[in-house]
Amino acid sequence: MGKKQVFLYRGAEIDVEWDERLCIHIGECGYAKGELFVAGRDPWCQPDLSSLGDVKEIVERCPSGALVYRTKDGQITETATSENTLTVSYQGPYFLKGDLAIEKSPGDMPGVELRAALCRCGLSKNKPFCDNSHEGQFNDYGAVGEAGEPLKETGGKLKITPLKDGPFLLSGNVTIKASSGRAAWQGNNVALCRCGASKNKPFCDGTHKTIGFKTD
Ligand code: FES
Repeated sequence: MGKKQVFLYRGAEIDVEWDERLCIHIGECGYAKGELFVAGRDPWCQPDLSSLGDVKEIVERCPSGALVYRTKDGQITETATSENTLTVSYQGPYFLKGDLAIEKSPGDMPGVELRAALCRCGLSKNKPFCDNSHEGQFNDYGAVGEAGEPLKETGGKLKITPLKDGPFLLSGNVTIKASSGRAAWQGNNVALCRCGASKNKPFCDGTHKTIGFKTD
């Protein structure tokens, strides 16, 4: 049997689940005020020490999808944000939020249907997800130079296809935000660099072919 990687923290009304495979330790949970998550405590997460509303709100801050909450019947009742957004982070991954369908993502990672951190430096050993391999290795400040086409509607399913040895193809309504938070690009079809070498980041410019980028 493999090492346990998904941990369940039970509460009276709601349970919290943490998936170690996705966590990149951004700390939105640990920095949250209150007693829900306390580093060094055992158990680290205690859902009964916060209100139900706070448990939901704090878990939903998790940008990698590593945290989800489940009601006592085992259901995940979090709903997707009304707009699909992708933020090109400063020196780091793409942070996605919305109604996400990441092709070939394992069926036992429910969090990434709502929130995900995807590798854009090309170095992750956990592709398509970020594993912090970019640290000290990848330089891109997260500017976005193109505007796309204004969306007629927002939301709906956003399909993300990580192409073998190539970019992410996004299909569905999406707003791309620069690292500053500026809503920079809108549209419903785009290829985004995941080799880390495009000269027109975050967009793919075909450089993955010339550098011989391999995704596995
Ligand atoms: S994936 Fe990086 S240039 Fe295409």
